[in-house]
Amino acid sequence: MAYAVELRNISKRFPGVVANRDVSMKVRGGSVHALVGENGAGKSTVMKILYGMQQPDSGEILIDDQQVAFRKPADAIAAGVGMVHQHFMLADNFTVLENVILGYEPTKRGVINVAEARKKILEMSAAYGLDVNPDALVEDLGVGQRQRVEILKVLYRGARILIFDEPTAVLVPQEVDELFGALHGLREDGLTVIFISHKLDEVLRVADDVTVVRAGSTVAEVKASDVTAKQLAELMVGSELPSPEIHGTPRRELITLSLKNVTVPSPSGARDLISDVSFELHAGEVVGIAGVEGNGQSELIEAILGLRKYRGEVLFKGESLDRFSVAHRRDLGIGFIPEDRQRQALLMASPLWENRILGHQRGKPVMNGYVIDKKSTMTDTISIMEEFDVRAPGPDTLALALSGGNQQKFIVGREMRGDPSLLLASHPARGVDVGAQADIWNELRRAREKGMAIVMISADLEELIGMSDRLLVMLRGKITATLDPKTTTPESLGSAMTGAA
Ligand SMILES: Nc1ncnc2c1ncn2[C@@H]1O[C@H](COP(=O)(O)OP(=O)(O)O)[C@@H](O)[C@H]1O
Ligand SMILES: [Mg+2]
Repeated sequence: MAYAVELRNISKRFPGVVANRDVSMKVRGGSVHALVGENGAGKSTVMKILYGMQQPDSGEILIDDQQVAFRKPADAIAAGVGMVHQHFMLADNFTVLENVILGYEPTKRGVINVAEARKKILEMSAAYGLDVNPDALVEDLGVGQRQRVEILKVLYRGARILIFDEPTAVLVPQEVDELFGALHGLREDGLTVIFISHKLDEVLRVADDVTVVRAGSTVAEVKASDVTAKQLAELMVGSELPSPEIHGTPRRELITLSLKNVTVPSPSGARDLISDVSFELHAGEVVGIAGVEGNGQSELIEAILGLRKYRGEVLFKGESLDRFSVAHRRDLGIGFIPEDRQRQALLMASPLWENRILGHQRGKPVMNGYVIDKKSTMTDTISIMEEFDVRAPGPDTLALALSGGNQQKFIVGREMRGDPSLLLASHPARGVDVGAQADIWNELRRAREKGMAIVMISADLEELIGMSDRLLVMLRGKITATLDPKTTTPESLGSAMTGAA
């Protein structure tokens, strides 16, 4: 069988790192082929090699069964290979048309034939649903449209094999759908698409075949229809996925938190967002609050923290919190992982050590009397980074420079600092990679075993069931069911959440 692209044992090292070690893949002509792997697995490097941007140390590249050696991208383009980069490489102050034809201008008696170029661009746009105005300035375009210009540019150069490096990372869902439509259109016309991604649901939606790389090497090549997202994820990380689970009953007799008939009126007072919620939580116990988003779970956490006015009583270790400010409640030993980490938990443009202070601007290690103790804050930030495996160059690194998983581990670390007796955790592992998720679950388990009481909200029902000692279901502001996680399935919990059971 003929392959559009065949890579045989591509290896490439950079000073101090092996980026590719025997990467092999076979890409069928007229297919969408996904290349998946964790960050740093070597995906971009091997595709840069295929595109002639980098030279392999060893290995072979075949295009349509012919061995090739590309010294520069122009060689790859001449052989019909094009690349749509992860970071766009367009000239901002040029029009779409100028960018597309740049370096490949069609001429007619020595003059650039703009009419010819425009016609071709409009034809390609229409054929693949890549709608852009050829006369728009690139600087005026949004990212989705810039990406279309990149694709048109590659097609204009006659590519039959198109490489996309994480094309969906910059797109909104609507644009992702449009891009996938275009990719399938290209495939229909017999073109070959190589699609790099680490988002497995997308991969399974768009790809025919999948190559998985781990730590620089190919570990599997499979048909997309033969695998599940979970299986792909396990191939990517090289082990079974961590599962959310807790064991035993470390519960102590001490009641850490007690709510008595807590009712939260809406800001206008017109109705109640939460009515009559009562429960007790022991030290070393995790209570999971289940509910379809918007049924009062967030308001419940906010009331406990003092961010919302309520009627009824909130007791912490037997003492009423009702007259206490948020700051006072936090100082008594309440940690808080908010639902929106970038907006509620971090100052994105500030260094980590300043983010360490956020919400903890009283007492040690941050304050020394009335002044911020930068030195001890820095030291403490470094120890959070070490203990919670926050991967960043140092405490001076800006929060926005961290991956989502590392941001979240930092927040979890900060909120568990000083062993608070109670942790209010909203979606503690949402939107992070599997490694960070496992780390966060481990920290929660450890804290529970040491006697921390945890109130957890999560939209991930497996997480909620696996990590909780007890489940409370909220529906329209009321607790409508108390369930034992040991006998609850995601399906039965889902039914309880919608009031169907
Ligand atoms: N130009 C380079 N110089 C040094 N190291 C590099 C270079 N490009 C990539 N690497 C390293 O090679 C490894 C693989 O990187 P990359 O191919 O970008 O991975 P992926 O695209 O799968 O995230 C990483 O450890 C990365 O830091
Ligand atoms: Mg990459």
